[in-house]
Amino acid sequence: MKPFVVKPAGAFSGRVSLPGDKSISHRAVILSALSSAKTTLENFPANDDCLATLKAFRQLGIRSTLKKSEVLIYGKGLFGLKKPGRPIYLTDSGTSLRLLLGVLAGQRFSVRLTAGKSLSRRPMKRVTIPLRRMGAEIKSRMGEFAPITIKGGNLKGIIYKMPVASAQVKSAILLAALYAKGKTRVIEAIPTRDHTERMLKIFKGKMLKSPGKIYIPGDISSAAFFMVAGSIIPCSKILIKNVSLNPTRTGAVKVLKRMGACINVKCQMSNVKCAEPIGDVLVESSKLKGVRISKMEIPSLIDELPVLMVAASLARGKSVFEGVGELRVKETDRIRSMTENLKKMGADIRVSKVKAGESIIINGVKGLKGARVKSFGDHRTAMSMIVAGFAAKGTTHIDDVSCISKSFPDFIRVIKSLLTFYLTRGLIPDRIPYTP
Ligand code: S3P
Repeated sequence: MKPFVVKPAGAFSGRVSLPGDKSISHRAVILSALSSAKTTLENFPANDDCLATLKAFRQLGIRSTLKKSEVLIYGKGLFGLKKPGRPIYLTDSGTSLRLLLGVLAGQRFSVRLTAGKSLSRRPMKRVTIPLRRMGAEIKSRMGEFAPITIKGGNLKGIIYKMPVASAQVKSAILLAALYAKGKTRVIEAIPTRDHTERMLKIFKGKMLKSPGKIYIPGDISSAAFFMVAGSIIPCSKILIKNVSLNPTRTGAVKVLKRMGACINVKCQMSNVKCAEPIGDVLVESSKLKGVRISKMEIPSLIDELPVLMVAASLARGKSVFEGVGELRVKETDRIRSMTENLKKMGADIRVSKVKAGESIIINGVKGLKGARVKSFGDHRTAMSMIVAGFAAKGTTHIDDVSCISKSFPDFIRVIKSLLTFYLTRGLIPDRIPYTP
């Protein structure tokens, strides 16, 4: 594979509408499949992860069609799933695998779930422990990794105090609870994204009544790359339309504002077709300063940490990201992938291990320099390094960016469409006016 080449960007300007939120889309597919009517999902992102969930439900007997960004799902009711003829392969989609385990915990047939190389290395114990306690029979590869075989039925409700802050685990338990006798309660020490709870509300809880149409707002995790690029590349101005502004997901916006970023939410509305807050976000370049991120904030920006590391590398002063240990068990070990890459580009970044967990410490530098870096097969590492490459002096080579299709297949085309020119020309563009 040829490396992807990034040259320094002059400025970014224009407006973008982003594909639907990945987390919300998984939940929309699942609850639509379990309701007993047709549901239309608008602005559905045709990325590898969401397609893995859609295909899994096809194997479970749920008909669906996908045209451009619209999906029709013909739900068959809570007990309408059928035993698939062969194992379900979930590619490297952790959300698909963990949430599906919750649904399958309620089925009376057994299913084998298999995963790609990276997902097969990610921990499943966090989800199999509570589901077993609810009554599911689960067999997995030694150490509790995929492939996993699950047979459900006869579930009972549980009160579960979450040992890790994970929305995927919480969601798996809540989905299993739809099939359980008695009450289920999940107790979180640190709140995590609440899309399952919101989606259950629009399906009228256990009634699972389809709302007919659901609009999926733009993905805030994808928006974060534009927020950082727009902040660190001088003379930039980017308007991000219709993005999800769920408070359990907006940690990166808050942190960037603390860093001095010029990010303003325009036209915020509560979207009736998805029960999620949504709005337009305007980003303009500014001088950033260092920031402290506390452990409590981590779940609200967990997926944005790689690109925030890029921002902190170019900010004035010191940044400390506390309690970031969960980054070790993402698509790749993102502490390693990002520190290795950013160090090659001249960043001053280190990891410190204390009793309370791991922290990342970054002392901002004047500038980054182009280097040969690696995506480690991880979509968010790849996109973060593209942003870093645009901000750096010289040329950056990224070994393989095909992994970007996991969440945002069109990322490179979209970000390049905002590029007014490459810095080599040395021009400064006029500031563009804001037009909502
Ligand atoms: C997700 C939850 C988070 C996040 C992942 C999507 C979800 O994972 O990192 O990208 O949709 O519930 P954890 O539950 O492992 O924290």
